[in-house]
Amino acid sequence: KEILILNGPNLNLLGKREPDIYGSTTFEEYYASLEKKYPEVTFRYFQSNSEGALVDKIHEVGFEIDGIVMNAGAYTHTSIAIADAISAVKSPVVEVHISNVAKRETFRHISYMAKSCVGSIIGLGLKGYELAVEYLIEL
Ligand code: DQA
Repeated sequence: KEILILNGPNLNLLGKREPDIYGSTTFEEYYASLEKKYPEVTFRYFQSNSEGALVDKIHEVGFEIDGIVMNAGAYTHTSIAIADAISAVKSPVVEVHISNVAKRETFRHISYMAKSCVGSIIGLGLKGYELAVEYLIEL
């Protein structure tokens, strides 16, 4: 199976960014452990701080790949364009959030992308990415 891990804005700063909320592991460290844990999966990884680049990446892989695990960061709460891109493609997308957005500011309670995704994993830390991968492997 081929799976894309797609991270949105500010997630390049994981490990340094608000570690009390997001932890002290960098995504590069976590990604290496993911590749090790699921040798049967061919992983691709893309991070961008730009909404359009995320939309372009969804278009590029979304008709050929087995699944996408996406943390759209703050675009989750604002981007109709990303929600539409997910609806437009064939590959199933699982939404992941490291923090429990339901316990945070009310502007984080709305996800525009949720209805376009097969499901959402929220508040389980980086572990959410591997739970999403396991779901996509079994799909
Ligand atoms: C986040 C939650 C978002 O509200 C926030 O803007 C992020 C990270 C998370 O993984 O918890 O950048 O998606």
